[in-house]
Amino acid sequence: MANKKVWVRTFSPTGNAYKIAARVGLRMSVSMACGLDFDEFTLPQEREESCKLSLGEKDHLVMVLPVYAGRLPNKILPWVREGFKGQGATATAIVTFGNRNCDSALGELKQELEANGFRVTSAAAIVSEHVFSDKLAKGRPDAIDMQSIDKFALDSVTAIDRTDALDIGSRAEVGPYYVPKKMDGEPAKFLKAKPLRDDGKCTRCSQCAMVCPMGSIKKEDTSVVEGVCIKCQACIKVCPNGARYFDDEDFLSHRDMLIENFTRPADNEFYI
Ligand SMILES: Cc1cc2nc3c(=O)[nH]c(=O)nc-3n(C[C@H](O)[C@H](O)[C@H](O)COP(=O)(O)O)c2cc1C
Repeated sequence: MANKKVWVRTFSPTGNAYKIAARVGLRMSVSMACGLDFDEFTLPQEREESCKLSLGEKDHLVMVLPVYAGRLPNKILPWVREGFKGQGATATAIVTFGNRNCDSALGELKQELEANGFRVTSAAAIVSEHVFSDKLAKGRPDAIDMQSIDKFALDSVTAIDRTDALDIGSRAEVGPYYVPKKMDGEPAKFLKAKPLRDDGKCTRCSQCAMVCPMGSIKKEDTSVVEGVCIKCQACIKVCPNGARYFDDEDFLSHRDMLIENFTRPADNEFYI
């Protein structure tokens, strides 16, 4: 690992992936006594700038992405695919998921990085509070998770020098997207749902427009959501007055189904 530099990149609409990325990147670079370059590609303008990384053998990338429907966020996948060239660089692949399951996302991230010329030397799937409800993994990653994440970061430093291939077991298989279910077990169809605005509560501060990773909320009139909505909940979490909300019945039923079935504490998975 001599003379390596650590690069950290994350897409994180509501901050969980960001928190993990910062912790792992910092721990690794301190342990390696090397430089650290940290950047996110959450917003459209950030993607234009940050998704142009061409690395080499003296670099180590830490990539942290949230799990959406058991896979990587599909609107972000092209940026991961086009924007990061490894050319022999090593990488740590991390996904964070909201207490249901990470399904195929870790295998997908590992595959994508390897296809781009990275050698993935460590990987993890880390539980974090689900953006749909704080009843799912509330407050995670917590202090105990952070201890495990710190250990993983230090183990990841050692793993950079590995000569064998990293084994992530059954997570290596990439299956179809998870189909969200309603309370009655039927598929929840909320692809076209968009966040509404309570005009009585909204103070027209436009913060919701500024954090939308798709740039879909019109800044001059935030009642207008003209582009794609990926249901990331960034607009809902950032609003200081609770003025944004979803009223889509399928979406709300899916959220209730998750609360009904997935409140047990899920385990982190670390692969070294
Ligand atoms: C559209 C969407 C789909 C999601 N799908 C899953 C899932 O399949 N499994 C799961 O456990 N969590 C799922 N989550 C929860 C997120 O992975 C989790 O809340 C993550 O921490 C969000 O990352 P962020 O805070 O960096 O935005 C989903 C969240 C969203 C917005």
